[in-house]
Amino acid sequence: MERFFCPNCKCFYPIQPARWRCDCGSYLDLEFESKFPIQKILKRSPSLWRYREAIPIHSNASILSMDEGFTPLEEIEFDGSRVFIKIDYLFPTGSYKDRGATVLISKMKEWGVQKVVEDSSGNAGSAIAAYCAKAGIGCEIYVPQYTSSGKLIQIQAYGAAFKKVEGSREKVAERAMEAASKIPYASHCWNPFFLHGTKTFAFEVWEQMDWKAPDTLVLPIGHGTLFLGAHLGFRELKEAGRIKGIPKMVGIQSASCAPLYQAFKRGWRETRPIEKSVRLETEEETIAEGIAIAEPVRGKQILEAIRETDGEVLAVTEKEIKAALKKMGRKGHFIEPTSAATIAGLGKYLRKKRRKETVVSTLTGMGLKSAGKML
Ligand SMILES: Cc1ncc(COP(=O)(O)O)c(C=O)c1O
Ligand SMILES: [Zn+2]
Repeated sequence: MERFFCPNCKCFYPIQPARWRCDCGSYLDLEFESKFPIQKILKRSPSLWRYREAIPIHSNASILSMDEGFTPLEEIEFDGSRVFIKIDYLFPTGSYKDRGATVLISKMKEWGVQKVVEDSSGNAGSAIAAYCAKAGIGCEIYVPQYTSSGKLIQIQAYGAAFKKVEGSREKVAERAMEAASKIPYASHCWNPFFLHGTKTFAFEVWEQMDWKAPDTLVLPIGHGTLFLGAHLGFRELKEAGRIKGIPKMVGIQSASCAPLYQAFKRGWRETRPIEKSVRLETEEETIAEGIAIAEPVRGKQILEAIRETDGEVLAVTEKEIKAALKKMGRKGHFIEPTSAATIAGLGKYLRKKRRKETVVSTLTGMGLKSAGKML
């Protein structure tokens, strides 16, 4: 039986749209058993829905799909090393968030939900808005003042109502949570169905690497929805006996807003409000708007995934992010600054690594949406 599970107080809840956190205040996980019938997978079209038996949607009629996913895994030369980069800006809305949105909004459709609310720095909002448009589900997105205009226009184009909120990203989330007392909360950080979409990143990498797991993953962390999704995906593959071990999870944050970097370095089990020295090295807002998350909802879970896999967190400066943005442009990839932060972190990781290992990283968002900011 599928049900929601609280990793904090260990209680269970039936699955229903209004339930987005535990009564103890914690985030929830989903109990679900994935299966991986390789012969069936191979016969299906190249989208993330080819892993159908691992995605918790009951009826095929509920699936909202634009043939998203199965993005290229490109092998490139990077500072003298060979690395694999998953080109995840090649999604219908221009970011990897479609992985989570296609699954979460399919679930909302299966539930018969008429309207949802979400908060986002822009990309998750665009993805949720697009799939709601496809489903005919009403959609309200709360965004911070600093969101790139390209993302705001995109949210509007899908017919969603957007509400700009002054102040921090956390203030934006508070406003959405107030609205979520009446309207189902399609939250990419709280709702575990989103992670059951982002986990397809792991399945694709596994298939593209000849049904093997890489040694190391280098991924961005804001709220950690790709990071945790990838970890969940590899964990499911291991539990199903398809791989031997889960890759080492290396997370990248902007030095201007690095609560996980701080918590990891100091050996804390949970994140704490970030100190000024860790928040702002340069007294400037980070251009990596997608990972400017001071209070990640699933901070504890992220730290557990890092420690369990002998991973680490690296922080990158604004100067390093800008250099990485230019560098990827010269390799033919026009990405947004948030994605450039991952690449700056990848460079840092590769300079440190001692052993020969297979490293997979990603380009999460396309550059056009942030062109104004980059100018
Ligand atoms: C392009 C891009 N990359 C990475 C991230 C980080 O995702 P998460 O907050 O789930 O860690 C975001 C989040 O908005 C994003 O927009
Ligand atoms: Zn609980």
